[in-house]
Amino acid sequence: MLDVKGLLDPATGRISRRIFIDNDIYEEELEKIFARCWGFLAHDSQIPNPGDFVSPYIGEDPILVVRDSRGKINAFLNTCRHRGMRVCRADQGNAAAFTCTYHGWTYGDDGKLVGVPGYKEYYYEELDMEKWGLVPLAQVDSYKGLIFGTFDPAAPGLRDYLGDMAWYLDIFLDRREGGAELIGGVHKWLVPGNWKFAAENFVGDSYHFPITHASAMKVQPRRSSINRGSSQRDDTVASRNDPRNFVASTGHGHGMMLNPDRVDEPGSYLYEHLSEMEQRLGPTRARLGSSAGTIFPNFSTLWGTSTIRVWHPRGPDKMEIWSWCIVDKNAPPEVKDANRVSYLQSFSPAGITEEGDMENWGQATAASRGRTAKRLDYNYQLSIGHERYSEEFPGLLGPRVSEHNQRHFYTRWSDLMASRSWDEIGNSL
Ligand code: FES
Ligand SMILES: [Fe+2]
Repeated sequence: MLDVKGLLDPATGRISRRIFIDNDIYEEELEKIFARCWGFLAHDSQIPNPGDFVSPYIGEDPILVVRDSRGKINAFLNTCRHRGMRVCRADQGNAAAFTCTYHGWTYGDDGKLVGVPGYKEYYYEELDMEKWGLVPLAQVDSYKGLIFGTFDPAAPGLRDYLGDMAWYLDIFLDRREGGAELIGGVHKWLVPGNWKFAAENFVGDSYHFPITHASAMKVQPRRSSINRGSSQRDDTVASRNDPRNFVASTGHGHGMMLNPDRVDEPGSYLYEHLSEMEQRLGPTRARLGSSAGTIFPNFSTLWGTSTIRVWHPRGPDKMEIWSWCIVDKNAPPEVKDANRVSYLQSFSPAGITEEGDMENWGQATAASRGRTAKRLDYNYQLSIGHERYSEEFPGLLGPRVSEHNQRHFYTRWSDLMASRSWDEIGNSL
């Protein structure tokens, strides 16, 4: 068995490059991480009506998520039971049933096999159709509009899995009546880097920002006043150096970067709705901003530029990014549009900030792959030993410029990789 614990020691900030490079470790990740954890599937607003569906992934497994005629959300492995074809090949849409394009087996919105060409003539009515429906995920649940699923019946329920991270998620999912919604479609693109580079960058890496995104920061002031007021405070140098800013690791590998003094410009969208937010969230959370965060393993949020995304693993040295624009459902159209433009300019596939990150993740993966280079460790010692608890904010907090959240992300990663059952795993904090 793979000696995972020997490959890294997050407590002292040492992690072997092999976990970003080796194919055998990648295969183990698919089994121990992606086949067991909760994965983001969709947002409620993508499938509001009966028959609405989307086709996401968990790990490398294709999924079909469909709202059935009774309004229930079902999720299945999107692979035909006859010869494995991807049953639903559209990204999203509305359908009463799903017909495989290979030989025509047809499945209902409850996953049941309801039609087989030649059932009478060629199968002599002997095929047990009850046994050959689509395979459902073991658990499907949602939190404030975010729909997640897991293949593992033994995984803790979604609310337990999210733990204290739910307290932080509410700031953006529940700050206004109506919650949040996705606008526009999904952006998908391939990056030649390991998925963990992106997940750990979003969980807590402020350190890279002034270097990687130096040129992007120079043009940021061009953003409109509507947009500044409608998004969270930007990750500026001043914001990062402010000692009140922090990162929170809430256990289970999740983490977020936070600014407790979000700018609320008079006349801006957030300023106008501050009293509603205070009523819903209380005074502390109503003013709490965030740049980025990660729900373990591969779902990340970046509220400052209105995006949520999934870093799908596609081999040890490749990831497929799926990214959406998220806004308050009750925001006026001009604010939603300002959010959308901000997202496109910064963190879409051609966004000025996204480009720097993609370049780093691809180049870091490539430069770590050589026979000698891959024997080295990476260093995660930034601000080690400067953690603290707070009565005001849940989780274990670290300085804003630190690798505190990354260390806890990899503690969770190694705990899952080294364990055979959920009972053996604590909250990895
Ligand atoms: S593979 Fe789907 S019907 Fe044959
Ligand atoms: Fe970045």
